[in-house]
Amino acid sequence: MAALATSTKVAVIGAGAMGSGIAHVAARAGHTVYLYDMNADAVARGKAGIEKDLRFLVGKGKLAEAECAATLARVVSSSRIEDLADAGLLIEAIVENLEIKQKLFRQLEDMVGAEAILATNTSSLSITAMGAALTRPARLAGLHFFNPAPRMALVEIVSGLPTDAEVATTLYDTARAWGKVPVRATSTPGFIVNRVARPYYAEGLRVLAERAATPATVDAILREACNFPMGPFELMDLIGHDVNYAVTRSVFDAYFGDKRFTPSLIQQELVLAGRLGRKSGQGFYDYRDGAVKPVATTESPAVAVRAVTAIGHLGVAEALLARFEAAGIEVRREAGEGSGCLRIGAARLALSDGRTATRRAAEEVTPDLVLFDLARDYALTPRLALSRADQCGEQAWCDAVGTLQATGIAVSRVDDIPGLLALRTVCMLANEAADGVVQGIASAADIDTAMRYGTNYPEGPLAWAGRMGASFVTRVLLNLREHYGEERYRVSPLLLRCAQGGSDLLSAEGQSPAI
Ligand code: NAI
Repeated sequence: MAALATSTKVAVIGAGAMGSGIAHVAARAGHTVYLYDMNADAVARGKAGIEKDLRFLVGKGKLAEAECAATLARVVSSSRIEDLADAGLLIEAIVENLEIKQKLFRQLEDMVGAEAILATNTSSLSITAMGAALTRPARLAGLHFFNPAPRMALVEIVSGLPTDAEVATTLYDTARAWGKVPVRATSTPGFIVNRVARPYYAEGLRVLAERAATPATVDAILREACNFPMGPFELMDLIGHDVNYAVTRSVFDAYFGDKRFTPSLIQQELVLAGRLGRKSGQGFYDYRDGAVKPVATTESPAVAVRAVTAIGHLGVAEALLARFEAAGIEVRREAGEGSGCLRIGAARLALSDGRTATRRAAEEVTPDLVLFDLARDYALTPRLALSRADQCGEQAWCDAVGTLQATGIAVSRVDDIPGLLALRTVCMLANEAADGVVQGIASAADIDTAMRYGTNYPEGPLAWAGRMGASFVTRVLLNLREHYGEERYRVSPLLLRCAQGGSDLLSAEGQSPAI
């Protein structure tokens, strides 16, 4: 199977934000592209947008003037749908409505050759349902670009139940020939990215619902300690709460009310109030003139101790020890069983395992317990979230905080919730990714690729979970589940299996759909 030849004409139906971006990509790759919209002004605007983007690249020295002119000449503005009849690939990016899209595809199907491929850029509708209205549903697949299409590398190639495997493979190879990073997915609600990303928002919203940390603190931890490009609250404000809430609702409804995807009342309130984020001037943050952006909660300076004792191995947090030494703090080692911890003055400091500090202090009979959150790289993180047991004394808290501060780490105190901020978020992303593999939505490798290129996550959730260890991630999730008693935190069978059998999460291929 090979990519479509550049001699194949491509038609893009819908010249809005996505359609014009997709036309840009196909024309840059060398295809003649028909750009059609029911609104002629939209075609003119779409083509002008493509020209502006291309000129920007010329200005930056990234595109030759001749190539810019040739690309533009390949974009043919079309005012009649009949103009698209000799296209070999037809991509729709019209309004997100099943009946309207079905009607369009029926019309296109009657016009084009039997070998033409029909593709939809839908982000939430079922490809199977869309194909049900067609005579040749095998020729229809999802070709899901991300916004803005010329800059975002990921394309999800989505197969409905009747989609011909050759059609999916041709689209996969064509997307790659267009310079994109394609992944394969089966038609399930949210496909890969819009489903696996749900916990990124949901966990932030849960933390807020429990009033355990401010939005600015959650955002700072996920950005600074975990290298996500944006925290969940600033990202929801950017996406728009109307859009983000609608996607969550549609995934929740499409999974027949699976509690895992339960929407947030806080976000619903924002939508009802018209506080849609940046576009309306207010969301979690205030974007109006003169508004001051709140900053993360940060502990004031405390005094460091001179020596710390590492008991056992700290696992992913082991790199903290070198930071103490670099700050002139002596590190002593003691043998220890199970997951390690640090003795810092009066405090016992340990990485969260999904239990609250208060519960763990009681169970381990260590009242002065302080827990720290996940960081992607403890050698470099500029910030960490900490929580303390209700039993913990003030001196112990100050010893832990001051000693971490001496290594250059800013400390954000979080209320004593299980899994703090980053750990619960990353474990829940991995859990969702693992369920995607179990349910045959995509392979483990494709899910990780999709999350890196579709959302710019710093690392695929399954690779990240693999680094932490499937048994550790499973333990965190089991503790979350026990704490809340909620279906949202049920553990994916794949994580359990990898934890029990020691196999690698990323080598899981996923199953072909059962039907
Ligand atoms: P848009 O509103 O910017 O553009 C849609 C265009 O389609 C408009 O110009 C409209 O005149 C035209 N149109 C509507 N019905 C039509 C019809 N029956 N025949 C011909 N033209 C018609 O919308 P946008 O954002 O470009 O989205 C398009 C599609 O892409 C939707 O299915 C959306 O869910 C999907 N999508 C959107 C993303 C985004 O971030 N905006 C990301 C990925 C997918």
